[in-house]
Amino acid sequence: MQNNQLNIIILAAGKGMRMHSSQPKVLHEVGGKALLGHVIDCANSLNPSKIIVVYGFGGEQIKAAFQQENLVWAEQKEQLGTGHAAQQALPHLEENSKILILLGDVPLISSEACKILLAQANNQLMIQSFNKPSPTGYGRIVRNEQGLVHAIVEEKDATTAQRTINEVNTGIMAMPTKQLTKWISRLSNDNMQQEYYLTDIVGFAVEDNMLANADITDDEWSVTGVNSKQDLALIERVYQQRQAEVLLKKGVTLLDPARIDIRGQLETEKDVTIDVGCIFEGQVQLGEGVKIGAYCIIKNANIAAGTTIAPFTHIDDATIGENSKIGPYARLRPGTVLSNETHIGNFVELKNAQVDTASKINHLSYVGDASVGKNVNIGAGVITCNYDGANKFRTVIEDNVFVGSDSQLVAPVTIRQGATIAAGSTITKDTPADALTLCRAREQKSIIGWKRPVKVKKD
Ligand code: UD1
Ligand code: CA
Repeated sequence: MQNNQLNIIILAAGKGMRMHSSQPKVLHEVGGKALLGHVIDCANSLNPSKIIVVYGFGGEQIKAAFQQENLVWAEQKEQLGTGHAAQQALPHLEENSKILILLGDVPLISSEACKILLAQANNQLMIQSFNKPSPTGYGRIVRNEQGLVHAIVEEKDATTAQRTINEVNTGIMAMPTKQLTKWISRLSNDNMQQEYYLTDIVGFAVEDNMLANADITDDEWSVTGVNSKQDLALIERVYQQRQAEVLLKKGVTLLDPARIDIRGQLETEKDVTIDVGCIFEGQVQLGEGVKIGAYCIIKNANIAAGTTIAPFTHIDDATIGENSKIGPYARLRPGTVLSNETHIGNFVELKNAQVDTASKINHLSYVGDASVGKNVNIGAGVITCNYDGANKFRTVIEDNVFVGSDSQLVAPVTIRQGATIAAGSTITKDTPADALTLCRAREQKSIIGWKRPVKVKKD
């Protein structure tokens, strides 16, 4: 079928010298995702039959980062210009397709804008442009009397008059693939930079009586490329601000939309409140009425309705039931699963621990490789000793157990239903149900008339 398939070329061979980094530019991240990852997401949303990534510097690293994606890789051994870069993709193109050219360092590109270009690219060359009050450095869009694009002139090759043009080239364009193939074979590097300019195809379109036009976007950020750490920082803020706006529109209360960072996907139900300084990473779900206190870091977590996370809590790979109270200063490590109405307090660390309904671990504890039943109270400073230096073992604490403060439960060990462990006990054997177990080094004694030492006076 004519012009039905879409091929996308992503140019990503630039060195990114101004990043001053040993990492390839397109692997630097915005919102926790590589720049190129954002562009690939946009490309995928357009359902192309092929995505061809033109890579150069750091190729192996880039390929490794996107192993999971269905991409065609084309190497540009020397960076001889954008036209030369696009040329490397030619052997992979499908003849009767339409082509969209994207840039690997323009992460906020929107699929809507691409669709506008593609809708008009059946039999014309479509360019994405924008108006820049200070256009220094960009290729200028030169239009004829009819308003059609006549040429793109690079800054270094532009006349003084052309340099006053404010409409600039973003580098993003769409056209029939056949045309691109034909035009690229005609490129030369006879210009100030001795580069093969992709933008010269506009002149060839005009020569071939094919229309060339440009769609002017008013969303400058969506076409802004990252060349330096300053650019990266600016784009990061724009990206975060846009995510915050989406949350506000959904009805989430953000105490300050400028102070939230989402590096992944955050899904929210009704009446969620998020205080300042929180970072969300990976996939996070917050149920109805969930409150997140200030300065929490929450990664890959599911937090059910009515639960409150108090400030400075760190959650990584955990599931939390309804109406629970976590923090402040709690640390939930991978494998933590809390049922409803649980309380986890300050300086409590949980790892690979399952805690059943209405149980409380409120102060200064480490509970790892453990299962804790219903209505259990774990006192301050209780430690599950899960590691003998070589192997890990589980601690099982059954329903209605009370573990007194400063006790150590040396795994593998089971504390049976309803048991009470006296404060300060070191438990090394299973304890019977409903009994008090105490295990202290010495029983308590008192010395009547004992005097505190007094300070020795020095003369
Ligand atoms: C290019 C455009 C210019 C436009 C500007 C927008 C040309 C000749 N000029 O400028 O009109 O205003 O983008 O930023 O096209 N790349 C390669 N291989 C190369 C050179 C570049 O893959 O040999 C890639 C880069 O990784 C980058 C993109 O192409 O993603 C643009 O390259 P860059 O050097 O930033 O742009 P200019 O050539 O200066
Ligand atoms: Ca260049």
